[in-house]
Amino acid sequence: MTDFEPILVSEEVVAGYLPGVDILNGVDLTLGDGELVGIIGPNGAGKSTLVKAIFGLVTVRSGVVLLRGEDISNLAAHELVARGVGYVPQRENVFSTLTVEENLRMGLYLRPEIWDERLAAVHELFPLLADRKHQRAGFLSGGERQMLAMGRALMMDPRMILLDEPSAGLSPANQDLVFERVRQICDSGVSIIMVEQNARRCLQICDRAYVLEQGKNAHTGAGRDLLHDPKVIDLYLGTLGRAD
Ligand SMILES: Nc1ncnc2c1ncn2[C@@H]1O[C@H](COP(=O)(O)OP(=O)(O)OP(=O)(O)O)[C@@H](O)[C@H]1O
Ligand SMILES: [Mg+2]
Repeated sequence: MTDFEPILVSEEVVAGYLPGVDILNGVDLTLGDGELVGIIGPNGAGKSTLVKAIFGLVTVRSGVVLLRGEDISNLAAHELVARGVGYVPQRENVFSTLTVEENLRMGLYLRPEIWDERLAAVHELFPLLADRKHQRAGFLSGGERQMLAMGRALMMDPRMILLDEPSAGLSPANQDLVFERVRQICDSGVSIIMVEQNARRCLQICDRAYVLEQGKNAHTGAGRDLLHDPKVIDLYLGTLGRAD
C-alpha cells in the first residue's frame, strides 16, 4: 500500500474490447497523491488497456475506478480532463499537421483563460517547445513529439496524468531526458501512473510499481524492492538485473 493519500484507486477492474472477452481480469491499483507509480509487464499483459479503462476509453465491465473517493468508472474522457486527469496515449499522441503551439492549444480547449500561465510553465519544463512553436508536429523527432504530448497533457494543469510508454522508440539520451522530466513533473505535485517497457528505468525512478501479467496483478511493491526481487529480475530485467 501507499503511504500517500490515495488519489486514484482501481478495484477489481474487469474490462475488454470484444463482447465476452475480458482483457483485464480484476486489476487493483492505488495511486497516492504526489506519487509516481509504474506499470510494467510483458507485451499484451493489458497495461495500455488498464490506463484506457481508467480514462474511460475502454468499458469497465465490473469493479470500480475511484478518483478521490468518487466513482468515475466509465465517465467520458472529457469529464475526466475536467476533473484534473490527463492522458498521454502510447501511439499517435500529437496532431502531426498542426504546429507545436496549436497542439498545446488543443490541450487547453476547456480552460483557454489559463493559456499564458500554462504555456509559460510548459515552456519552462520543455524549452524546445518554445523554440519550435511554429513547426508542424509531424516534423518533430520521436523524442520531441513525446515532450509535446506530455506538454499538451500538462496544459490543463492536471492533478494526475496517465503516461503510456513515454520512452518507447526514443534514443537512450532522449529516454533519459523523458524519465528525468517525468520525475520532475511528479516532484512538482502532479501524481503519475506510467506504463513502461523499460522496466529497469521505470523501477529506478518510480515510488511503487505494479507488474501485470495476463490482465492480473502479478507483483507489486516499492520500485527499488522490485528491482532486487529475484522473480522480477528473472522475468523482466534479464541477467543484467543482478548486477544492479
Ligand atoms: N482495440 C482492441 N481491440 C481488441 N483487442 C485489443 C485492442 N487493443 C488491445 N487488444 C488486446 O488486448 C490485450 C492487451 O493489450 P494491451 O495493449 O493492453 O497490452 P499492453 O500490455 O499495453 O502491451 P504492449 O506492451 O505491447 O503495449 C492484447 O491481447 C491485445 O491484442
Ligand atoms: Mg501498451
